[in-house]
Amino acid sequence: MMTMTKLKERSLLGLKDLSRGEIESILDRAAYWASQQEKVVPVLSTSFVANMFFENSTRTRFSFEMAEKRLGAQVLNFAAAASSVEKGESIYDTVKTLESMGIDAGVIRLKPSGVLEDLAGKISVPLINAGDGNNEHPTQALLDLFTMKRKFGTLQGLIVSIIGDISHSRVARSDLWALRKFGADVRFCAPQNMQASELDAPYVTMEEALKADVVMMLRVQLERHEKGLFKSSEDYRAQYGLTEERAARLSKHTLIMHPAPVNRNVEIDDAVVECSQSAIFTQMSNGVPVRMAVMERALK
Ligand code: CP
Repeated sequence: MMTMTKLKERSLLGLKDLSRGEIESILDRAAYWASQQEKVVPVLSTSFVANMFFENSTRTRFSFEMAEKRLGAQVLNFAAAASSVEKGESIYDTVKTLESMGIDAGVIRLKPSGVLEDLAGKISVPLINAGDGNNEHPTQALLDLFTMKRKFGTLQGLIVSIIGDISHSRVARSDLWALRKFGADVRFCAPQNMQASELDAPYVTMEEALKADVVMMLRVQLERHEKGLFKSSEDYRAQYGLTEERAARLSKHTLIMHPAPVNRNVEIDDAVVECSQSAIFTQMSNGVPVRMAVMERALK
């Protein structure tokens, strides 16, 4: 049985309490994996990993699976909709079931915030947070930092504007907490009813937000909003969208990012998604080496 200290060191529940040194070491290892030509390096061939997604996902779920398979791990994929969760089984009982079958680590995405820490305390294998409610999405933030570092060489002093639905965004939280550790200057821009007053970052106007090294657009999380929270998609786009006109006014060095999925022509115009300054699909590519580093840290 692994000691509690070892278990904590191997798990990744969030970035808020992870040291700068720990984050740096994951990013360095991700750079190593990104430089490898070999598609499969089977260093985890005797390890069993369960990807447990209690909320829908495309990027995170598949890039974890890609990362695990590139390291040769034995992968079990769990989707709530095709499981006994549909019969009322709890998250705890589901994870405990997979643990009792012998998994060595679990990747987990949860709808609610505030239950992961408690769950991790009752499970004896490392858990990796693949997004929990509006709390944290640590591997997304790690791949965001990795992408920024690759472009700018350093995160120190970088001006990062995060624009959109901050209140529902676990990405904004993980990015804010991680970027601050590296001396980046993080600003938020959001309509009043999408702001998160508990987060300690300044809010700026849309005009001000565009004067940044990184402009990170967030998805309007339509599924999490009460009806009527904003007037219409057109109105949102007009006030807070990265339209073609606004994108044309960005400095030539500014990197456009978005964690995706994207609401095209709502928070970002169709033509901007794949423009030359956009790193949106590069972020997705970078997710694989970053998650390889995270899985290796959990299992080696
Ligand atoms: N960025 C992100 O978490 O996307 P998915 O919800 O598709 O995993």
